[in-house]
Amino acid sequence: MRILCRESGGVGIAYTDLLNSRAILKGAPRTLELAATNGLDQPCGMQLYGTSEDPLPEAAIWAIEHGARVIDINMGCPVDKVAKKHGGSLLLRDCANTMRLAEKLVKTIDRHSAGRVPLTAKMRLGWDPEHRVAPRLARDLESVGVALVTVHGRYTVQFFSGKANWDAIGEVVAAVRSIPIIGNGDVTEPQHVVELMKASGCHGVMIGRGALRTPWLFKQALALLKTGEALPEPSFNDKLRLVLRHLELIERHIGTERAVGEMRQRIAWYGKTFGHVKPLKEAVRTATDTQTVRDAIHEWMRPEYELCPRVERTGYNAELQGFKHDGVWAEGQC
Ligand SMILES: Cc1cc2nc3c(=O)[nH]c(=O)nc-3n(C[C@H](O)[C@H](O)[C@H](O)COP(=O)(O)O)c2cc1C
Repeated sequence: MRILCRESGGVGIAYTDLLNSRAILKGAPRTLELAATNGLDQPCGMQLYGTSEDPLPEAAIWAIEHGARVIDINMGCPVDKVAKKHGGSLLLRDCANTMRLAEKLVKTIDRHSAGRVPLTAKMRLGWDPEHRVAPRLARDLESVGVALVTVHGRYTVQFFSGKANWDAIGEVVAAVRSIPIIGNGDVTEPQHVVELMKASGCHGVMIGRGALRTPWLFKQALALLKTGEALPEPSFNDKLRLVLRHLELIERHIGTERAVGEMRQRIAWYGKTFGHVKPLKEAVRTATDTQTVRDAIHEWMRPEYELCPRVERTGYNAELQGFKHDGVWAEGQC
């Protein structure tokens, strides 16, 4: 998914899912799969979660040695499995302890990477509206060397309900001295990026769920920021090509068998931007192998669907990232 978004254009940096520090160090297969990165996936941030009881510094060293250019600490996950005792949003409930953990992490990462790898944090506004800790916590994190904070404009108790509060993200922007604050929550259209930056004064925007339906959103939003005009949607055929590319990437990542199952879920998200394509979605949902998925998608490609300008495959946004790649898939890096 990260490579697909990067190839679509406009992505500055992408982070892994949250990774359990103990599971990383034990080499748990599922966690290693989530942590996998390669030369096409740079710069890559790895997100860790845990509490001061967990071996987060050791996991951070592991992440640096396995391709992380940034380490992020999750302070926002609301899911019981994480936030009840293992970290995530739990870190918003005991800020003093969280600060000690962050300080220790900054020191370890700094030492191990000779100052090359920054520590960032991702948080919500607070556990609940009575405890809006984000502004103070972000400022304190800055004072111990955290380089950037991303704020999802919801409280933990909200999970994903209600609307993200973009104005409240502005309070975090106002509280810190000079580190960038990245705004996050409910960005699903290019103009939302501009609106969120305007409402909060944040320095950048993180996009989550919006990318599942429209991986080209980053490219459209960046164009809007730079030129005042969003790029048009990709043509229908280009969307189909993107699904084919995604299938290829998933296959290489988790193997053919699981790729079919993964695509069943993803076609529903992609399908939302496709118009009336029930038979196509049905064909993908009932396919038992990747060739059948490919055939179904190819069957829907039509010259007359090349209506919108093609989205060029830009690979990386070299200008933003100062990064060039040789186009080689680095097999088995981790
Ligand atoms: C299924 C799912 C998984 C998520 N996993 C993570 C995660 O691993 N780490 C994280 O910081 N946030 C995670 N989030 C939260 C998103 O990063 C983001 O903060 C939230 O969805 C709001 O932004 P959005 O409206 O752009 O999706 C997840 C959200 C969803 C829906």
